[in-house]
Amino acid sequence: MIKLNINLAERSYPIYITTDYTGLGKCISSIKDIGKLVLITDSNVDEYQADECKEALETFGLEIYKYVIEAGEKSKNLDTIKDIYKYLIDIKADRQTILIALGGGVVGDITGFAAATFLRGVAFVQIPTSLLAQADSSVGGKVGVDFEGSKNIIGAFYQPKFVYMNVNSLKTLPQRELQAGLAEIIKHGIIMDAEFFEYIDYNMKKILSCDESIMQYLAKVNCSIKGRVVEQDEKESDLRAILNFGHTIGHAIESVMDFKLLHGECISIGFVGAFRIAQKLEMVDKETTNKITQVLSNAGLPVRLSGMDIDKVYNQMFFDKKMKNNKLTFILPKKIGEVLQYKIENEELIKSILNELS
Ligand SMILES: NC(=O)c1ccc[n+]([C@@H]2O[C@H](COP(=O)([O-])OP(=O)(O)OC[C@H]3O[C@@H](n4cnc5c(N)ncnc54)[C@H](O)[C@@H]3O)[C@@H](O)[C@H]2O)c1
Ligand SMILES: [Zn+2]
Repeated sequence: MIKLNINLAERSYPIYITTDYTGLGKCISSIKDIGKLVLITDSNVDEYQADECKEALETFGLEIYKYVIEAGEKSKNLDTIKDIYKYLIDIKADRQTILIALGGGVVGDITGFAAATFLRGVAFVQIPTSLLAQADSSVGGKVGVDFEGSKNIIGAFYQPKFVYMNVNSLKTLPQRELQAGLAEIIKHGIIMDAEFFEYIDYNMKKILSCDESIMQYLAKVNCSIKGRVVEQDEKESDLRAILNFGHTIGHAIESVMDFKLLHGECISIGFVGAFRIAQKLEMVDKETTNKITQVLSNAGLPVRLSGMDIDKVYNQMFFDKKMKNNKLTFILPKKIGEVLQYKIENEELIKSILNELS
C-alpha cells in the first residue's frame, strides 16, 4: 500500500493507493470515535464494486449501512441531499457516523456535501472508483451539488478523513470514462511535471488497459502534484487556478454541447486550444503543440470539435464562474511542465483559435 499525506494543518489526511479493498477496515479503524458507517454509492458502482468493499469492512467487524443513488450527474442535486438527510435521520445517525463515498465524482461531491452539513459536519471518507475521481475530485476537499442548471454552484470546502484508492476498481469502469479521467492526469503533467507527462506518453497502452503497477505509480505522482497545489492554496485563491489549465475553453464547450461530451473530452480540446494560443503568442513552438495533440489522441481523447459554434463557445467563456472583471483568463503553457496565468482581451485571436479547433 502506498501512502501519501495531504498537509492542511488540522485538516491533514492520508491518501492510500492500493490494489484491493482488504486494507480498508484497518484504515477506518484508525479514525477515533467510529459510529455507524454509511456507504453511499451509485447504481453502477453498487453493481460492480460495493459487495467487495462492504465485505472488507464487515470482515473487520464493522456495521455497515448502504445508500444507493441513481448513477449520473442528474442525481447531483439538493433533492438527493434531502433524501440522504432523511435516510440518516431514519437510521439514527449521530455525530460519530461516518459517511463513505464509494464511486465517481458525483458520489464523492454529494457525499462530501451531505457530510459537511449533516449535524454541522460528520466525518467522511472517499473511495474514488472512476479515474476522474482518483485523479481529481477526491483530492482537494471541494464538495457540492448542481442547482437550477448551474454546475457545482452550492458547496463547501470539506476535507475527508482519508482517501482510499483501489486502482483495480478502474477495471470495471467504461473505457470512455477512463480516457476522460486520464485528461486530468495529463493536465497535471502539463502544468507541473514534464517527466510525468513523458511517463504517461511512454506507458499509454498499459494505462489504457489499467495495468496495476502503472496505475499505482500514476496515482501516486498525480495525487502528489494535485496535493502540492491544494496544500499551497486550499481555498482556491491563486495558485490553485493553474488547475484550470484547458478549462476556459473546455468548460465553454461542455456547456454549449449541453454536457453530451464528457468533461475530460472537453478539456482535452481546451488543452490543444491553450497550446495553440501560446504558440500564437510565441511562448511555445509548433512541435510542442503537435506533441501534446498526439499524446491526447493516443489517449483516445478528442483534440478538435468539428462544427463548433464559435460565437456561442466564445460568449459562453464569459459565464465561467472563475472569470474576474469580465476579462478572459487563460492558463497558458510556457513549456510542458510549466504554465502561467494570462489575461487576453483580443477577441480575434481567441476566435481564430476556436476556428482552428473546429
Ligand atoms: N470536487 C472536485 O474537486 C471535482 C473535480 C472534478 C470533477 N468533479 C465532479 O465530478 C463529477 C464527475 O465525476 P465522474 O466522471 O467520476 O462522474 P460519475 O461519478 O458520474 O462517474 C462516471 C460514470 O462511471 C460510473 N462508474 C464510476 N466508477 C465505476 C466503476 N469502478 N465501475 C463501473 N462504473 C463506474 C458511474 O456510475 C458513472 O456512470 C462531476 O459532477 C464534477 O462536477 C468534482
Ligand atoms: Zn476538470
